[in-house]
Amino acid sequence: MDLNIRMDISRAKSSAVGAEHGITPTELKDIAPRVTELHQTLAGERAEGKYGFYDLYKQTGVLEDVKATAAQFLEGGYDNLVILGIGGSALGTRALATALLPPYYNMLNTRARGGYPKVFIMDNIDPITFRQMMKVCQPKKTLYNVISKSGKTAETMAQMMVVTDAIEKKVGPEAMKDHVVVTTNPRDAGESLLHPVADKYGLKEFAVPANVGGRFSVFSPVGMFPAAMLGMDIDGMLEGCAAMDERCSKPDMEENPAYLRAALHYVLDTEKGKTMSVFMPYADGLSHVADWYCQLWAESLGKQYDLGGDEVNAGQTPIKALGATDQHSQIQLYREGPNNKLFSLIDVRKFAKSLRIPDVLPELTDLGYIRSKTMNKLMAAEFKGTMDALKTSQRPVIRVQLPQINAHTVAQLLYMLQVETAMAGRLYNVNAFDQPGVEEGKKIARSIMGGDA
Ligand code: PA5
Repeated sequence: MDLNIRMDISRAKSSAVGAEHGITPTELKDIAPRVTELHQTLAGERAEGKYGFYDLYKQTGVLEDVKATAAQFLEGGYDNLVILGIGGSALGTRALATALLPPYYNMLNTRARGGYPKVFIMDNIDPITFRQMMKVCQPKKTLYNVISKSGKTAETMAQMMVVTDAIEKKVGPEAMKDHVVVTTNPRDAGESLLHPVADKYGLKEFAVPANVGGRFSVFSPVGMFPAAMLGMDIDGMLEGCAAMDERCSKPDMEENPAYLRAALHYVLDTEKGKTMSVFMPYADGLSHVADWYCQLWAESLGKQYDLGGDEVNAGQTPIKALGATDQHSQIQLYREGPNNKLFSLIDVRKFAKSLRIPDVLPELTDLGYIRSKTMNKLMAAEFKGTMDALKTSQRPVIRVQLPQINAHTVAQLLYMLQVETAMAGRLYNVNAFDQPGVEEGKKIARSIMGGDA
């Protein structure tokens, strides 16, 4: 089976939605040489090692260590894997877990989970949620993966301190190494408060390469250690990354899905007022890929200054939606409200399972059109219905189709969106790899808590 994900931009073109809202042949032709030129810049910087995310899937030694460490910990028979992390340290794992583990995974028994632990992704400091997690996941039966690239993030550090206290009291300090794994900055690349913690207790430590930022780190140990602990198909993901890397290494945007998407988003934002990017998968499994995408797009492109230091206030607002659910919530606005959005509608050619709508309630003749059909067919019809309805309202749409949801295809999708973001950063002429806007709030919170501003 052809596992390549497909992309169709015909509904984002002027021929489908009019020149006021869609990209024209001239605009496509004009942006193409710029994309190719920026490709040379990005490819050069990749070769210099400026951006590590492109090549994470090639880090064979690291990935072998990830798998071997997970195998060792799995022998410990933990009931729970708890991820402590926030932003890019959590969203990738959540996206992968939702896509690749069975729905309601934590409610399945150990056998149905394939012997793997339940998973809890703690990316907030809500005291009610955290207390409850600590109750549900008894330290003795739990492995905690503390993930913080900087090793300083207040939320993650607070979580780690609560967990450390619980382990020390309930299992003993000597057991910390059996219950905590840290993922953070490499030792030679700057400080992390997780280094002294790892030293004190002799913890297993994974490094996030210095040239990989949080939101680009899903294929580093940040996402891959939890994936291995949960029995996900890491090799399938790596193959998916390699397949998409090959497609995304083409300088010509017509052959490069990431570049084509970046160019469309950029042109339609800056020329046609499409200041919002709606990411709407028609599959529950991809709902958290949408969350992951929103962080990637927002934090990478939302910048006050461009690379030349001029104030630009760049960025397109990402929005998460889910089909068919949000047809009954957001589509009204999307069709009849302001025409300021570019839509990415994601569909799945073949769901892993099928469900037939039974031949019941014969007296309800109005239900004849769904009786004995499958939910799969209804989902496909709803998807097509939204595609066509958006076209009627002259709303531009890019269609992305996954042949099925598996490790290979989901990795392709994430990899493509990362390359797209890197190219979009270049088109907007902003640094897609920093997040200065996040710092101010952190500083204020720190000083309110009595720390140095
Ligand atoms: O993408 C990013 O860089 C951020 O979202 C970070 O992942 C987030 O702020 C957490 O940072 P850290 O991993 O340093 O704790």
